[in-house]
Amino acid sequence: MIKSMLSKLRSQTEHAVALQKDGDFSSALANFELVFEALHFYDELGYRHETDTIRSICIEAQPTPIQTLYCHALSLFYRRNYSSALDAAETALLLSPQTALVHLLLARIHAYVNNFSAAYAACQAGEEASGVPGSSNEARFMINALQNLPGDDYYGWLSYFHEIIKPATYVEIGLGHGRSLALAGRNTKAIGIDPYQGFWKNLHYVSPDSPATLFPLTSDDFFKQYDLRQEIGTETFDLAFIDGLHLFEQVLKDFINLEKYARKDSILLIHDCLPVDAVVAERERCTGFWTGDVWRIIPCLKTFRPDLTIMTIPTFPSGLGVVSNLDPSSTVLSENYEEILAYYLSLKCPETFEQRRVVCSVGSVDKEHIKRQFCRI
Ligand SMILES: C[S@@+](CC[C@H](N)C(=O)[O-])C[C@H]1O[C@@H](n2cnc3c(N)ncnc32)[C@H](O)[C@@H]1O
Repeated sequence: MIKSMLSKLRSQTEHAVALQKDGDFSSALANFELVFEALHFYDELGYRHETDTIRSICIEAQPTPIQTLYCHALSLFYRRNYSSALDAAETALLLSPQTALVHLLLARIHAYVNNFSAAYAACQAGEEASGVPGSSNEARFMINALQNLPGDDYYGWLSYFHEIIKPATYVEIGLGHGRSLALAGRNTKAIGIDPYQGFWKNLHYVSPDSPATLFPLTSDDFFKQYDLRQEIGTETFDLAFIDGLHLFEQVLKDFINLEKYARKDSILLIHDCLPVDAVVAERERCTGFWTGDVWRIIPCLKTFRPDLTIMTIPTFPSGLGVVSNLDPSSTVLSENYEEILAYYLSLKCPETFEQRRVVCSVGSVDKEHIKRQFCRI
């Protein structure tokens, strides 16, 4: 299955090169970014020869020295080789100081090595070079998140939960390109639910140990049409991750539906519980980086379900909610669903990050502490 993923990434790179030749550089770049990100996953699994061949298809197809340097810097950035990425991007800027794209890539690289003042300065330079107000906003969200949420990112935390729980069963709602789903390890029966991405042809990542079973459905349709117990082969799940539609009412429904199949010591993770900027938490998506109003689930559960153990891990890029002490017999949330929506949808997103940390119950990032608090399997 890994070979077929790599061959798909190769085809996607060739397709992006063709887009670039047809003049659509921005679509080509979006594809290169996705491919480079995925290639790093396969580097770590020992496929470096194959991944380098795919990277070189992109880099060798670049028509100008600046584009070559840019793609080279991008590929190094995704390989986490930040000092070489910085060299390549700075060399590109020497050749062409007014290329906004290069400034914005430099901003990202600086942020990953915690040089935040240089990162913001590069955003400013990028915005001036582009002449488009707001063109550095996405880079700024990312820098802000890196600055405020240091340490392991949420994939690191998901891996940690897989490692300490060694779940026999894992359920994920919302797959993206499959990166989080692919963290399910050996001996884990994993299922993934997503109406748009729930097909292997759409995913870029696969677990080397145990490919998941996919359900190309909305989470609501999945729970209407299937009995989760039959799909996972047991009465209850060990670990679940909600990362589907980023609207409070949907997250609440996903929580209610999953809890029916939980035990007291199952663990339910919820992505995007701690937005670093209020604008990314709008219900109407107006930014690329978007958490929606998922954060509301934390104060809601804290109030309506004081029996649960809840916290948000302040992890890049937007926090990870952790819930245990689940109770499949509880009907509090479903019985009060409308009332809960009416109240929580009217709640304003707290203005400052500090206030959001409090409202979203941000807790310790000490792994041993979290393990003691949540993991009793
Ligand atoms: C942010 S992505 C998930 C990223 C992925 N979990 C990761 O961390 O790599 C959100 C996904 O939710 C999916 N989605 C949107 N609405 C959904 C729904 N009602 N039920 C299930 N998935 C949904 C989208 O198709 C998208 O793939």
